[in-house]
Amino acid sequence: MTAKPRHDVLPIDPDDIGHNTSPNPSFNDLLASRLSRRHLFGLGVGTAGTALLQACGGGGSNGFPVLPPAPAPAPAPAPAPAPAPAPAPAAPKLGFNAVSKSLADVVTVPAGYTATVLYRLGDPIAAGVPAYANDGTDAPHTYDRRAGDHHDGMTFFGMDASGKWAPASAARGLLAMNHEAITPLFLHPAGQTTTGTGNAQVRTVADEVLREFYLHGVSVIEVNKGASAWSYKQDSAFNRRVHTLTEMAFSGPAAKTGHLATRFSPDGSMTRGTLNNCANGTTPWGTYLTCEENWAGYFRRIAATDNPNRTAREIASFNRYGVAGTGRELWATVTPDTTDGLYGRWNTQVVGAAAADDFRNGANTYGWVVEIDPFAPGSTPKKRTALGRMGHEGACLGPVTVGKPLVWYMGDDSRNEYIYKFVSTKSWDAADINGGLAAGDKYMDDGRLYVAKFNADGTGAWLELKLGVNGITSSNTAYAFADAADVVINARLAADAAGATKMDRPEWTAVNPKTGEVYVTLTNTNAASRPITATDAANPRFYNDPKGAAATAQTGNPNGHIVRFSDDNGDPAALSFKWDVYLFGARAGASADINLSGLVADNDFSSPDGMWFSQATGGLMWLETDDGAYTDVTNCMLLAAVPGKVGDGAARTITNVDGSTTRQQATFVGKAPGTDGLRRFLVGPKDCEITGIAESGDGRALFVNIQHPGETTPAANITTPAQFGSHWPEGGNARPRSATVVITKDDGGIVGL
Ligand code: FEO
Ligand code: CA
Ligand code: CA
Repeated sequence: MTAKPRHDVLPIDPDDIGHNTSPNPSFNDLLASRLSRRHLFGLGVGTAGTALLQACGGGGSNGFPVLPPAPAPAPAPAPAPAPAPAPAPAAPKLGFNAVSKSLADVVTVPAGYTATVLYRLGDPIAAGVPAYANDGTDAPHTYDRRAGDHHDGMTFFGMDASGKWAPASAARGLLAMNHEAITPLFLHPAGQTTTGTGNAQVRTVADEVLREFYLHGVSVIEVNKGASAWSYKQDSAFNRRVHTLTEMAFSGPAAKTGHLATRFSPDGSMTRGTLNNCANGTTPWGTYLTCEENWAGYFRRIAATDNPNRTAREIASFNRYGVAGTGRELWATVTPDTTDGLYGRWNTQVVGAAAADDFRNGANTYGWVVEIDPFAPGSTPKKRTALGRMGHEGACLGPVTVGKPLVWYMGDDSRNEYIYKFVSTKSWDAADINGGLAAGDKYMDDGRLYVAKFNADGTGAWLELKLGVNGITSSNTAYAFADAADVVINARLAADAAGATKMDRPEWTAVNPKTGEVYVTLTNTNAASRPITATDAANPRFYNDPKGAAATAQTGNPNGHIVRFSDDNGDPAALSFKWDVYLFGARAGASADINLSGLVADNDFSSPDGMWFSQATGGLMWLETDDGAYTDVTNCMLLAAVPGKVGDGAARTITNVDGSTTRQQATFVGKAPGTDGLRRFLVGPKDCEITGIAESGDGRALFVNIQHPGETTPAANITTPAQFGSHWPEGGNARPRSATVVITKDDGGIVGL
């Protein structure tokens, strides 16, 4: 038995996969249509400004200052001179010097700031749990009370002395954070232990798998600001780990249907666990949303043996979601299985007589937005099926207005996937603040799910995903939809039918509190997924970004971009929108057709992923990278930005180049940010991604996650610590650990200003 080098050949970034074989346009066929700037400019962009609250991803005032209903009209006043228009709220101003690009194995922040490690992989979160040895010897049964691996999306919930949600709290709160995945090499004495090869490769040490079960999921930890520093409270009664063994309830259209029936829950009302929790979201009633992204790869389904037992519809669904293979961690291969199927549940093949005898529907029980009440540690998380099943990146709450529906914007992160929104049926009632999961039942189980179509003229449409509309019918030839549950479970297939626009891997969504406009990071794509002939106005670039001394070709859109849109009339329930591209990732010095945003040494970046608007700063945007393209020059980074609004730039036709082929592509480019509008704030250690961000209620502490430093360390190097790809945060020859850092300004000021 040996350390398994399988992870050496798996994709480093498992979201870097595409399963969309639908013929939906990247609408190059529409490009002949007019690209008239008039469509973009002239339409009430930003008229929503008065009714906006940033709400996504938490943050200081995570605060949802709830807007009152519009007052009744007052009696007509005596004629008076028209008042001067109210001045526009001042834009925040970046108040730090840019950090240089770096390949050092450290976290670098600007002069005048301090970054302190707060919460690392394996840190204990209950009394009596020993400190983490970080050499693979920690007892497996303690991992349900330790920090998970691969820290990701995160929310700070300010808390008052009585243990209630208090968004403005500056010194005490609960940090809820995702643990997306694992770096197996560093979790056990010498990586994962296996025997056999190919489909016959199996895990042979059940305790290693138990560690991995616990290391995925979510942490809730109490954090406090002491006299000089922030720390987490190891023995807080609020501390909690949610992981792959935690029981969860289904709600919404797919709950209690045969689609979700398993041996564990024959009536389809429950499942165990959450997985590959990537970005996050919040609710205006004070709960946390964790989003299941690359769950498909964890399941074992050997298509050659399972397909003969499946219907054509089931096979179409598996293909669309990529449910095939041995399972990336081989969890289903542990023998003997437990009586309750802890390992066998990851085998989503037909092995019994009926769905109640096996886990043939196991893959249907993942891919959801999951609601957790951080203030109720004993509560059962709920998988909210009305928001659709996909590779959920995050779920950003839109503007919250009393008497109006709530909206969450969501990206499905795989190549050529889509952007969605969910609009509640019920209108927001501020009496539901602190309503816990019961409020979730009210707003998140009943509503409309839409997918975005970006038109070449700078407009867009929201297409509803509902049985009987937009081609989502039982007579659809690609997939015959059976019922409402089938539509949300196979949301990708429904979006195909509706004619959504394929995007360059939608990652985080964020809503600008000043304008209500929605930003979506499109992290990158490659030439195979979007050849030069398939660019479109919203995904407009094809280029080569040569890497390293050998100038290794990276073609397609390896640096990514950020699209933004404004729902018409400032109404989050609107069915149409205007869009442009806010920002294009690029190396400084790349040609003008690549570096469309005019990036320079102090703000160039590649592969945007995490993105969030701060409340305490008055709307500073924070932008994080998960990059592999520019990593010959710099480790991943965090930048601060002051965005404008949709339409602040211009129409532009760019020339794409693929070898000797050139092709013109029209698009809309936002105003170049300059270094006043975009500036690098932090660079992380080697081989990490920067992801997850939140702030204390006063914005004087910024929490940032450093994920998977040293991730690409070859398996053989486990015996030569000096050759680990990173030793952060402990240094020396230590194994690297994902961790949360807290950043403060040395003068006690608000971070970033
Ligand atoms: Fe987990 Fe799409 O990043
Ligand atoms: Ca991400
Ligand atoms: Ca990513």
